[in-house]
Amino acid sequence: MKISFSKIEIPSSGAVVVGVYEDRKLTPTAAQLDKQAKGAIERALAASRFKGKPDDILTVLAPSGLEASRIVLIGLGKPGALDAVGVQALGGRLAASLANTGEAAVAVAVDDGTDQKLATAEQAANLAYGARLRSYRFDKYRTTEKPEAKPSLKKLTVMCSDPNAAKKAYDPLQRIGDGVFFTRDLVSEPANVIYPETLAQEAQKLSELGVKVEILGEKKMRELGMGALLGVGQGSERESQLVIMQWEGAPDARNKAPVAFVGKGVTFDTGGISIKPAAGMEEMKWDMGGAGAVIGAMHALAARKAKANVVGIAGLVENMPSGTAQRPGDVVKSMSGQTIEVINTDAEGRLVLADALWYCRDRFKPQAMVDLATLTGAIMVSLGREHAGLFSNNDALAERLLAAGKAVTEPLWRMPLGEAYDKIINSDIADMKNVGNRWGGSITAAQFLQRFVKDTPWAHLDIAGMAWSEKDTAVVPKGATAYGVRLLDRFVADNYEEK
Ligand code: BES
Ligand code: MN
Ligand code: ZN
Repeated sequence: MKISFSKIEIPSSGAVVVGVYEDRKLTPTAAQLDKQAKGAIERALAASRFKGKPDDILTVLAPSGLEASRIVLIGLGKPGALDAVGVQALGGRLAASLANTGEAAVAVAVDDGTDQKLATAEQAANLAYGARLRSYRFDKYRTTEKPEAKPSLKKLTVMCSDPNAAKKAYDPLQRIGDGVFFTRDLVSEPANVIYPETLAQEAQKLSELGVKVEILGEKKMRELGMGALLGVGQGSERESQLVIMQWEGAPDARNKAPVAFVGKGVTFDTGGISIKPAAGMEEMKWDMGGAGAVIGAMHALAARKAKANVVGIAGLVENMPSGTAQRPGDVVKSMSGQTIEVINTDAEGRLVLADALWYCRDRFKPQAMVDLATLTGAIMVSLGREHAGLFSNNDALAERLLAAGKAVTEPLWRMPLGEAYDKIINSDIADMKNVGNRWGGSITAAQFLQRFVKDTPWAHLDIAGMAWSEKDTAVVPKGATAYGVRLLDRFVADNYEEK
């Protein structure tokens, strides 16, 4: 979808969108349009249940007196009440409702108001951002889809009093959106296309944005002693990879400890020898959603030239059953020196993260380290698919993440950690085992990770319920969500950037 900004002018073709406040109070442009259309708007409102609430939307087709093909009325709620998230949702809803109408172009008027929570230019930019986020579609493998089944909407013009200011406000949002789309593409791709080496190649592309990218193969990881990560990948024909991305955007880059993000990148999780049931196993192509989010966040940060030092690490493996696969009962030695009894080869994500986290803190000594992983089905039992689980050894860090998640509608819910849970993963033969008992499975998984971070301020986001969506929401169409990209970007912007 092509997005542009212009002064308010009623277009001579396509759809024109105007706002209506609560209690059917017309915005200035809506009133002007109503006059041109000989009262068609007021009559349509009177004939409908449209009240002007932020969820309300009403189309008036082929209004006489106008060249435009349709008027779309959107509810704005109380005058001045819309915030960034609210306007993004409006944009998203508009994009969805106009996508398949046959309309190719839409122009939206964002009027100036009084006592606005958000300046008009910011509103215009966030409306465009929401519309774009919602317009995402992964259709490259649909070769027989009829043109009339494809979305018709190609062009969005957002009209406001100061289009230059809106364009300026949109610039960083567009770049964050590029990061989101990059992640959605990576997560949507099937596992015969995206496997550790090809995913690493995709991450390598970030070097075009000024990110320093290194890729370690199995030989190098063996030298480093990463027996936990390598054990997971040893049943696969595909070579495991560790991707290290560095963005040095802080003005005094050299002497500033970075913030670090670490992602679980299991490009396909069969469960290994502890194999998963067939039903639904295809979903395990998105078991690299954590790594995907880290790569997309690095893309967003570099593209908008964030003034912070950020490290991204992605542990990439394919978990397969084969004659070379690791067995239940195997004992592996992690880079930290700690040994692990692998009770269940399907609890593989924590094994990958154990070495990736240790490597990260050992090499970069980050001021904060956040991992993202589609780690446990248990977190979905706890929280459903509306919050990701947040585990942290540091209250201040946890608060920052909760706030960032709230600000971008990628919500988190804090979960507990504690010694009593930690004991559950002690092993009779090694330093620990990779699964606990039946209960609190997302917590014992987090306790496992905590054994590899020492006293580094650390947080773990279990995004198993969030990386993929079965339903459309305001700015996220169903499918790959790129959960975490907007959250991490915001977390950096609010806490680690020089102003
Ligand atoms: N990738 C899965 C977790 C998962 C399950 C993500 C469903 C999304 C949807 C993870 O590797 C896994 O298999 N976890 C096991 C752990 C168990 C063996 C302790 C689980 O949750 O069942
Ligand atoms: Mn698994
Ligand atoms: Zn997994």
